[in-house]
Amino acid sequence: MMNRNLAMEFVRVTEMAAIASARLMGRGDEKAADQAAVDAMRAMLDSIDCDATVVIGEGERDEAPMLYIGEKVGTGQGAKLEIALDPLEGTTICAHGGPNSISVMAIGEAGGLLHAPDTYMLKIAAGREARGLLDIRLSATENLKRLADAKKCRVADLTAIILDRPRHKDLIEEVRAAGARINLIGDGDVSAAIATATPNTGVDILFGIGGAPEGVISAAALQCLGGEFQGILKPRNPGEIERALKMGIEDINKVFKIDELAKGHLMFCATGVTTGNFLDGVIFKPWGCLTHSLVMRSESGTIRHIRAEHHFDKKPRY
Ligand code: FBP
Repeated sequence: MMNRNLAMEFVRVTEMAAIASARLMGRGDEKAADQAAVDAMRAMLDSIDCDATVVIGEGERDEAPMLYIGEKVGTGQGAKLEIALDPLEGTTICAHGGPNSISVMAIGEAGGLLHAPDTYMLKIAAGREARGLLDIRLSATENLKRLADAKKCRVADLTAIILDRPRHKDLIEEVRAAGARINLIGDGDVSAAIATATPNTGVDILFGIGGAPEGVISAAALQCLGGEFQGILKPRNPGEIERALKMGIEDINKVFKIDELAKGHLMFCATGVTTGNFLDGVIFKPWGCLTHSLVMRSESGTIRHIRAEHHFDKKPRY
């Protein structure tokens, strides 16, 4: 059983990871910023009463010493949980001081989160109005039309958010031809997916290929937001196909519906590292710092924005 108070515990974890990596904003050192977030997240997780397993993390055990897939975290007392985490989503963004890098975790019950291989995923995401209406197998043009109908607006009023990658050349051309506006982003398709389901971000729909682990985290967030998400794995080589099969994925071409990526009672926490569409970044002060987090639970549908002051004379300094 997932205690609702746990969400308030988990947000302390993303807060600490965000503060640690935000210290290294703009240094041009992706690795250092990520490592700082990993160290802080790992340390804070141990203080939480739960018996949790990382199902999406920093990588395989042999390549990631901390927060690897299969690692047990928490005190070992309490609810059996699965965690999908990204201590610093948008490492390059943080290293350059750009917008929308976040520290993020999704928490599910045992069996609640797809154990996705570290490959790519074709994704589509949108807000509440799109639930059950979009189909990732159809063209971007058709999905834009469906979303415009659902939102009672014109396609020209919609903004698609797409990772700026050469692989998206045809997609971008199609969306332009369909008449929608585009927000091309350098990185960070988890925050992009959340933005599609968050009011007043000016972003309506996410299209394109990004990381599969990020897809599961996004699906958990969209479940809490009541939005829509679908994904299809896009392995880059035979090794990745083999790995996916080993992880229990029988059909590599399967369309994963939102309920197949993240189901049951879910919790979601994200803290802004750098300021973005729906979260402010960490601001340092002489006495400590300010953080802004999003905390959500699928069961209640409650969406909380938590702004915290952290006083470094009373807690470890980052
Ligand atoms: P990192 O935080 O691991 O750097 O990932 C950033 C990201 O932009 C994700 O948001 C996205 O899913 C993925 O990388 C896209 O992969 P690629 O950069 O290889 O196109």
